[in-house]
Amino acid sequence: MSNQNMTVTIAGVEMKNPVTTASGTFGSGREFGEFVDLNKLGAVTVKGVASVPWKGNDAPRIAETYGGMLNSVGLQNPGADYFIENDIPFLRQYDTKIIVNICGHTIEEYCQVAEKLSDADIDLLELNISCPNVTAGGITFGTEPKMAEKVVSEVKKYAKQPLIVKLTPNVTDITEIANAAVCGGADALSLINTLQGMRIDIHGKKPVLANKIGGFSGPAIKPVALRMVYQTAKAVDVPIIGMGGISNGEDAIEFIMAGATAVAVGTANFSNPMVTIETIEGIEKYMEQYHISHISDIRGIIE
Ligand code: FUM
Repeated sequence: MSNQNMTVTIAGVEMKNPVTTASGTFGSGREFGEFVDLNKLGAVTVKGVASVPWKGNDAPRIAETYGGMLNSVGLQNPGADYFIENDIPFLRQYDTKIIVNICGHTIEEYCQVAEKLSDADIDLLELNISCPNVTAGGITFGTEPKMAEKVVSEVKKYAKQPLIVKLTPNVTDITEIANAAVCGGADALSLINTLQGMRIDIHGKKPVLANKIGGFSGPAIKPVALRMVYQTAKAVDVPIIGMGGISNGEDAIEFIMAGATAVAVGTANFSNPMVTIETIEGIEKYMEQYHISHISDIRGIIE
C-alpha cells in the first residue's frame, strides 16, 4: 500500500489519481481494455460526442510528423443516443470517472448534446471549443473571447454535470479565452488541444491530409502546452487539466508543477497503449523519491 496520496478534485469530482486520457486518443475506453485496467485511471475522457452522428472528414485523416502526428478526423462519432446506450454502461463497469467531450456546429447543437446527457450517469462534461478540424463549431468558438463566453454560458443552462472547457492553443493569448470561459461559467479548464499544422506530399504535389490542415499533437508540442498551462494557472482560479505531449510520469509532474490539477495523456496512447498506467506509476515513483505525501503539495509550485 502506497503512502502517496494522489487523489485530486476537479469541480467537486474526486479522481483517485490525476491521470485521464485526452479526448479522441482513447475511443470510449473499449479499444484499450485489453491493455489497460481502466480501474486504475483517475478518469476516462471519451472521444467527442455530438447530439447526432457525425461522419467526420475525408481520408487521409492522419499523418506522422517529427515528434508527433497530425490528425483531421473531424470529430466522427456515433451520436449521443448511441453513446448513452452503449458506452456509458461499458465504462460504468469500472471504478473510474467518466468525462464526456461534447461537440456541436452551433450553440444550439452544443446545448442539445448537453441536454441529452443531462440525466446520463457521467461525472463531467468537457466542452470542445477547440477542435481545429471542423468548419463550424470547435475552434471557431474558441478563438474569440465573447463567443467563448457565450457558448459556455448557454451550455451551462442545460448541463447538469460540472463543465470543463477545452481550450485551443491557436490564439495569441490563451488567458483571454480562459478568463472568458470562466466568466461564462466554466467549472474547470482543459488545455491544450492541438496546434494547427500541415504536411505536403512533394511527390504528389498536394497536402498529405485530405482536409489540408490538421491538428498537431505529440511530444513536440509539450513545451508550448506547458507554457500555456503555466500562464493559465496564474490567470484563473478554476482547476486545470493539462495536456499536450505527455508521455510519462515526469512529463505529468512538469504540468502539475506548472499548475495543473490533473493531466491527460493523448497521442502517446497510439504508440504505447500502456502509457496511462506507466504515467501513474511514474508520478508515484517521483512522489516516493522526493517524499511527497500528497500530489497537491507540488501543484503550481513554479512561481
Ligand atoms: O478532428 C478531430 O476529431 C479532432 C478533435 C479535436 O481536436 O478536438
